[in-house]
Amino acid sequence: MLVQIKEIADKLLPRLIEIRRHIHSHPELSGQEYQTAAYVAGVLSSCGIHVQENVGKTGVVGNLRGNGTDERILAIRTDMDALPIEERTSLDFASCKPGVMHACGHDVHTTVGLGTAMVLSQLAEQSPGNIRFIFQPAEEIAQGASWMVQDGAIRDVDAIFGLHVFPSIQARSVGIRYGALTAAADDLEIFIQGESGHGARPHEAIDAIWIASQVITTLQQAISRTQNPLRPIVLTIGQINGGRAANVIADQVRMAGTVRSLHPETHSNLPQWIEDIVANVCNTYQAKYQVNYRRRVPSVQNDLQLTQILESASREALGTENVEILPEPSLGSEDFSLFLEHAPGAMFRLGVGFPEQENYPLHHPQFEVDESAILTGVVTLAYATYKYWQNNH
Ligand code: NI
Repeated sequence: MLVQIKEIADKLLPRLIEIRRHIHSHPELSGQEYQTAAYVAGVLSSCGIHVQENVGKTGVVGNLRGNGTDERILAIRTDMDALPIEERTSLDFASCKPGVMHACGHDVHTTVGLGTAMVLSQLAEQSPGNIRFIFQPAEEIAQGASWMVQDGAIRDVDAIFGLHVFPSIQARSVGIRYGALTAAADDLEIFIQGESGHGARPHEAIDAIWIASQVITTLQQAISRTQNPLRPIVLTIGQINGGRAANVIADQVRMAGTVRSLHPETHSNLPQWIEDIVANVCNTYQAKYQVNYRRRVPSVQNDLQLTQILESASREALGTENVEILPEPSLGSEDFSLFLEHAPGAMFRLGVGFPEQENYPLHHPQFEVDESAILTGVVTLAYATYKYWQNNH
């Protein structure tokens, strides 16, 4: 099967590069992937795949039936949106839209999803079960996965695979990670309400700025003293506003920040833990408070069995020297985790780094990918699906 997959994928490569360059030069922002979605739907239909459009706003779903000997549905998820960044590469297929760029490699993800669909549609007779291709919008604003879940994209799915490009891994290689791959990321907003007063008469006022400073300090210290250090938390207050004049005690402060964590239990306890600390500090100094904690995305926790399938598929397909077991997760976030609340899944990192030139990081205006990675992604995913059917529940 691997030989067949490689043969088909090799022949498709020029077409896939064409697809990727088309998508790259026509980037669309999160939630506005109209042309990309229509383009994806067109390519899927042309390989005889049943397509549903507008699943989760601009999302696209393709269903490929197998030969019926396995009833399970395996999903493959890729994302389609670009970023509000002005491209500064000198590629002749650079973005034709000012201020919008595929700087996170989602053009490559979409192409790999389409390439895998093209390969597997040619092998449907030999494929026991059903594949659902999920092309997700709005990953960069962490909303697209939730839109698609609401519209039923993950319904009846038994397992799901995903990928993300990674410039610090060389092209033709992949990175596999067991357990946590990315962090949970939540939004935090804290209001402190004190009482205004003369800057020279603090005892007649309740100083919201000073109390806010106590809240921040207590939160940061409490992480190191009350939380398990093996279950990391990063709490960043990135915004703080309050006060009207240098000699007037501030009655109001608003703070906003991001909270990252890796362990699911830590993640579920964080809102209450933060609220308790804010309450204790504010009660001590007679301030009123409000904590708005908004859960955005949980951590991506790769399923053990499905990660083993990705590992063995990529070792066979790419050569074992081209498979890196990643020792550390990232504290970045990825809304693939919202699909994982409904089905077990695993996500791998696709190397896109050039061997002998500087590789810019994701979200950089000069970010580029080594396009040979497209073939690596397609072969790995297509072969992993066969490994999945062989693996009996
Ligand atoms: Ni991304």
